[in-house]
Amino acid sequence: MSSLHTLPPGIPGIATFFATPDGLTRLSIATPLSTAAVILEGAHVTHFQPHGQAPLLFLSGSSHFAPGRPIRGGVPVCFPWFSAHASQPELPAHGFARTTRWTVESLAGSEETGVTAVLSLASDETTRAQWPHDFLARLRVEVTRELRLTLEVENTGTAPFSYEEALHTYFAISDAREVSMTGLEGAAYLDKLDAGQRKELGTTPLRFVGETDRIFPANTATCVIHDPGYPRRIVVEKSGSRSTVVWNPWIAKAAAMADFGDQEWPSMLCIETANVGRDAATLAPGERHVMTAVIRLD
Ligand code: BG6
Repeated sequence: MSSLHTLPPGIPGIATFFATPDGLTRLSIATPLSTAAVILEGAHVTHFQPHGQAPLLFLSGSSHFAPGRPIRGGVPVCFPWFSAHASQPELPAHGFARTTRWTVESLAGSEETGVTAVLSLASDETTRAQWPHDFLARLRVEVTRELRLTLEVENTGTAPFSYEEALHTYFAISDAREVSMTGLEGAAYLDKLDAGQRKELGTTPLRFVGETDRIFPANTATCVIHDPGYPRRIVVEKSGSRSTVVWNPWIAKAAAMADFGDQEWPSMLCIETANVGRDAATLAPGERHVMTAVIRLD
């Protein structure tokens, strides 16, 4: 419960910690450049809005907001596995990082430079019960005119380990049936809706005509959402990431999800900066890996 934690000091006028009525702790950031919000449970960025623009991130009006429950929207941090656990399906989908309280390591910034928060999550008895490795994960959240998220994982144990990770970003769009996406033309993907079959995209920009759940392995491309409705172009640049995941639940899956409004599917598109499956990262003791996603308007 967040009430058991002492709220860290903020930065007067631009970054403030709040205990929410739901038992979560929220960092709210507001500078002349942009506004943003981060929930410490999950190190979950729930809001990012450059000044004068509509929010870039989708957040479901039906999301749960409670300690231990995933939030539907924003940027869930998936770690140390992606999707269902490979051998223990009873473990939480997308790993425990998105529902565990992270610690604030530092907070700095000004009206001119924007705000940077560094959050961390270290292995403990609870994490080891689900994943028997010692690690230190850090999420650096840089909020300026753009949103830069850097997820660093360090092996603090004595044996090597592999892990999966994703910055599972939900973008706010005008209508999934009207937007297109460039960057993945001709790329190979694994179709999660067709038993993980390997397929290839055509050479034209990707458009959405139904439920979509695709993993693009060994892919480091910058992606751009072209949204004529707002109108705007959202750019997703990345480094240290070899997988991109693209997801929209469409009508039936949206209706089946308790924490997602039946009519919300047209207004979101997930483009996830990730290392999953064969792109999982492996760290020797003492090693670290850094993955960065930069989200901005063109
Ligand atoms: C995507 C997966 O990354 O996340 C989908 O590829 C999944 O298969 C989606 O449905 C949402 O996952 P969750 O656990 O947040 O409902």
